[in-house]
Amino acid sequence: MKISILAVSSLLVTLSNATPSPAGSYGIFKKDDSVYANPNDCDSDIESLIAGMTLEQKITQKLLPDIRNWNYGGCNNTAAPLQDMNDEVALSLAKYSFGGLTLFAENLYTTERSVRLIDNAQKANAINNKIPLLVCIDQEGGIVTRLGNGIMMPGNMAIGATSNTDYAYRTGLIVGKEVRAVGANLDFAPDSDVNVNPANPVIGVRSFGMKPELVSANVVRYLDGLRESNCIGCVKHFPGHGDTATDSHFGLPLVNKTLDRINSIELVPFKAAIAAGVDMIMTAHIQYPALDNSTIPSIIDGEPILKPATLSRAIMTDFLRGQLGFKGVTVTDAMNMDAIVKYVGQIDATAKAISAGVDLIIMPVLVRCVSNFTLYDQVIDAVKNEISEGRYSVAELESSVRRILTLKKKYNLLQLDNSPIEERIKYANATLSDPADKAIEKQIAEEAITVVKNDPTYGIPFNTDENSNVVVFMPDDTQTAAVRRKVGELKIKGNFNYMNFTRRALNGTAEELANKASHIILGSLVTTNTPAIDGGDIFINPGDIGTWAYSFPAAVVEKAKEKKISVAVVSLRNPYDVANFENAVGAVLCAYGYKGIILDVYAQPNLPAAISTIFGQSKPKGRLPVDIPSVFKNDTILYPFGFGLSL
Ligand SMILES: *[C@@H]1O[C@H](CO)[C@@H](O)[C@H](O)[C@H]1NC(C)=O
Ligand SMILES: *[C@@H]1O[C@H](CO)[C@@H](O)[C@H](O)[C@H]1NC(C)=O
Ligand SMILES: *[C@@H]1O[C@H](CO)[C@@H](O)[C@H](O)[C@H]1NC(C)=O
Ligand SMILES: *[C@@H]1O[C@H](CO)[C@@H](O)[C@H](O)[C@H]1NC(C)=O
Ligand SMILES: *[C@@H]1O[C@H](CO)[C@@H](O)[C@H](O)[C@H]1NC(C)=O
Ligand SMILES: *[C@@H]1O[C@H](CO)[C@@H](O)[C@H](O)[C@H]1NC(C)=O
Ligand SMILES: *[C@@H]1O[C@H](CO)[C@@H](O)[C@H](O)[C@H]1NC(C)=O
Ligand SMILES: *[C@@H]1O[C@H](CO)[C@@H](O)[C@H](O)[C@H]1NC(C)=O
Repeated sequence: MKISILAVSSLLVTLSNATPSPAGSYGIFKKDDSVYANPNDCDSDIESLIAGMTLEQKITQKLLPDIRNWNYGGCNNTAAPLQDMNDEVALSLAKYSFGGLTLFAENLYTTERSVRLIDNAQKANAINNKIPLLVCIDQEGGIVTRLGNGIMMPGNMAIGATSNTDYAYRTGLIVGKEVRAVGANLDFAPDSDVNVNPANPVIGVRSFGMKPELVSANVVRYLDGLRESNCIGCVKHFPGHGDTATDSHFGLPLVNKTLDRINSIELVPFKAAIAAGVDMIMTAHIQYPALDNSTIPSIIDGEPILKPATLSRAIMTDFLRGQLGFKGVTVTDAMNMDAIVKYVGQIDATAKAISAGVDLIIMPVLVRCVSNFTLYDQVIDAVKNEISEGRYSVAELESSVRRILTLKKKYNLLQLDNSPIEERIKYANATLSDPADKAIEKQIAEEAITVVKNDPTYGIPFNTDENSNVVVFMPDDTQTAAVRRKVGELKIKGNFNYMNFTRRALNGTAEELANKASHIILGSLVTTNTPAIDGGDIFINPGDIGTWAYSFPAAVVEKAKEKKISVAVVSLRNPYDVANFENAVGAVLCAYGYKGIILDVYAQPNLPAAISTIFGQSKPKGRLPVDIPSVFKNDTILYPFGFGLSL
């Protein structure tokens, strides 16, 4: 049975007058209630669906808002992670007929609640909208994952290091299956950027590597895996985020390269994906003057800035559709990123992206409470304004909606899953982090471990006994926890001491530990490797920059040399930091993933695989998927693409 629009508007009245019920309680939706539109009501004839939509619904079909945090019953800075549907969010879904939702880790900590949240979102949407939601998440595998109970996988650069594209296929297959199991249907993956810039602060290990052919081959296989799991894939970030030294979360990057160069590097994986029939392409908030040198005024000071790709008709329509022949759906990167917020403004940028020809908009505005709903109305008005001023047309809007509905139809998403929710939860419980998949995850992580340096006396494998003193220095406690667990699993002999090092100097307890050690395991973690300015960055938040230092790991390595003890340095993220340890005595290896154990749930397999290698329990086979420049000599490659030692 369907609830009419009238019922929703009276609900709106009720909500604004009533004392709100506490978060997590269900007013519209009791946990097992079903306010489903009859799934068989869904019309799979796209033209008649479009004919039945209002102008506003055509516009909102293009929006993918987030419901990441919600301040139920109020609106202040205490917005909390939204894990269960509440009346207010349900109301916004019922009221606006969105095309879909973008969900984040905050929404997806546990499997059962994720399934219910998504199910309830579909139900709320179905009150007024015949067309079910796209439910999208960034489950790339590696350092970017959203499903709390899901598998993390080693990530793209680790796959690149195995030189085995079958692992990209496996990753697509597994993450696609998990995304579908919770009721989501679209994965913003694989990352298809070619990481040619060692200073890239945001892509790094999310990329398969520095060679366009390597990236392309893996992208295509990853997409095969997703498709086989019936999950929509999306290559990103077009035209390429691999050669930037700025993160578009915090600034507006520029790729000032010639068209020839872009054609031979950045665009290669996107062309391969298009040839392989990719369904969706995500834009980058990046300036590409070779593709579009037109400007818009910045909201900071009115000065002209080059249009970022997301807002460029020349790039998103003329080039991507006209020249590259892409016929699928395009989507913006998140519109809450600084590249957009600081320079253009979210609502204006959403309108501009739409009139540039982009089909879907991720997080067009930041809505955290009922009083923010007016922001959606402003978005609708801004798009109408583009139409009335002739920058966009209803015909173009309908073509765009047609592409979105065609995609939904292709994946059978015009029908809601009407099977009992308990069955779906049971299936999801059994599917996420399946032991057979965990075994593949471990295998890939172990084969990816790349040893770039090893000394026969002070290197690996470590042979420890009951009298050995092993000191483990890691950037944070999530990693020490991961090492501790792995050492226990492998039943390694010796006394272990664990310490994190958010510090620069090797003094105090850290020095005492190092002085007593027979073996040291040292994690190194940087996003951009700038040892020359001692104090590269440890983490992606700008506030954290400078907390890490080159000097601590360097001092540890020096100490090991001086005391003639074994040392293994593990590069935990982008592998470029191995160049800092050119003169180390001992072993230096790359793991390509830094996430340890968080909340006892999240755990990446990379560091455990490195531990296994260090203690001789697995053989390293990895080969560098990028060149590693020397930090001591300019214009010198210390370890070239393809390099890796076998023990
Ligand atoms: C913020 O909103 C919540 C929910 O209504 C309320 O409990 C809390 O007191 C508010 N905090 C402030 C500082 O207003
Ligand atoms: C791009 O590079 C060209 C050639 O080096 C230079 O003339 C131009 O000013 C650069 N454009 C921008 C926006 O930096
Ligand atoms: C901008 O691009 C157009 C078309 O590619 C070109 O003709 C023009 O010279 C470019 N202008 C500048 C300032 O680079
Ligand atoms: C959302 O609403 C709150 C409370 O009315 C307001 O303080 C905040 O600025 C709004 N957010 C936006 C982005 O307009
Ligand atoms: C799913 O798993 C959770 C957590 O282990 C458990 O509490 C719940 O009962 C399971 N539900 C079903 C239907 O299997
Ligand atoms: C490092 O360890 C200390 C002591 O256990 C702990 O308080 C701190 O939160 C840890 N820091 C990190 C970044 O894990
Ligand atoms: C270690 O050295 C740093 C920098 O010289 C200093 O700030 C810190 O207090 C020292 N810590 C200990 C425990 O000696
Ligand atoms: C490398 O080049 C930079 C910039 O040109 C220069 O400042 C630095 O001294 C050079 N370093 C070495 C080791 O030659």
